[in-house]
Amino acid sequence: MSSTDPKTLLPASIADRVASLSVKEGRAIAVVDAGGMGTKERGEIEGAITEILSAKEGISDVRVVMTAERKQRRIIAVGSGKGGVGKSTLTANLAIALQKAGRKVGLVDADIYGPSQPVILGNQGQKPVARDEKLVPVESAVGIPVLSMGHLVEPGRALAWRGPMAGNALSQLIDAHWDDVDTLLVDLPPGTGDVQLTMLQRFKPMGAVLVSTPQDLALIDAARAGQLFDQAGVPVIGLVENMAGYACPHCGEVSDPFGKGGVETAAGRLELPFLGRIPLDLAIRQGSDAGKPPAAGDDALARPFLDIAAKVDAWIGAQS
Ligand SMILES: Nc1ncnc2c1ncn2[C@@H]1O[C@H](COP(=O)(O)OP(=O)(O)OP(=O)(O)O)[C@@H](O)[C@H]1O
Ligand SMILES: [Mg+2]
Repeated sequence: MSSTDPKTLLPASIADRVASLSVKEGRAIAVVDAGGMGTKERGEIEGAITEILSAKEGISDVRVVMTAERKQRRIIAVGSGKGGVGKSTLTANLAIALQKAGRKVGLVDADIYGPSQPVILGNQGQKPVARDEKLVPVESAVGIPVLSMGHLVEPGRALAWRGPMAGNALSQLIDAHWDDVDTLLVDLPPGTGDVQLTMLQRFKPMGAVLVSTPQDLALIDAARAGQLFDQAGVPVIGLVENMAGYACPHCGEVSDPFGKGGVETAAGRLELPFLGRIPLDLAIRQGSDAGKPPAAGDDALARPFLDIAAKVDAWIGAQS
């Protein structure tokens, strides 16, 4: 081979991710900085390098080595200012939709006081075990590993933890055996309390998704939650409007019990991306109560979640 940098054998978009490339006696060894890459992305880049280099004259063997094996796990928080606007519903469905997009997703239910993921993901009653003093996430039928206080304490038992105890409980859920999970979604409790602060201080999320219903009051609270992330230096990936437009199951007429379009307008005003709108639909509630989140299916109800996930997926991709 000539003495020019062997990396010029690769297109710039791939060469950028290659820490080093050597070619000796027909064997090419490429070292790829895989930090922050998902499993799918790793597979793709490995495939592309192998294909391109194998086609070069004088190369008969290609080895691709991935570095940064110490997993760079990214955390995406889902929050809202107000309670009951659909954070938990969105988090579960976003997790499923991001998994469909090829990411290895795990879910932490950080709502220590009112956990709802065991019901939504249909794995109530399962108990996580501990290994080496860390929790092992429990599986769910939709293939998302999850940890929730709901798996650790009896359902309905009021939790009177405050301050440091709540923070420590959250730490145990996040600092667990997530193994090959590359994207951890965290379903936050509403508002801006102890749990949110622990989250921001100990486990700074890569980004946050904010959910709101279209009413003015919910929007004011959403803006406040946005401010909290902003102050902590956590970028807001965007706003989601939930419970927009109700189609009457009898006559089909669409009404807007909470107004419509308010979140998109607010996103514009706050200069934040608008990620999409989820309709108010009885089937979403029924699916959530039955451990069958709509994003796991392939009918029209999955669509808004898949569209929002595509935007979040693109945002994550643009960060690395
Ligand atoms: N788009 C929707 N259509 C119909 N029902 C919905 C929709 N989104 C959420 N729900 C229902 O509204 C209720 C509240 O939703 P969810 O638990 O996701 O909100 P939350 O913001 O996580 O609440 P909390 O603040 O209590 O944690 C649930 O019963 C859920 O099934
Ligand atoms: Mg919730």
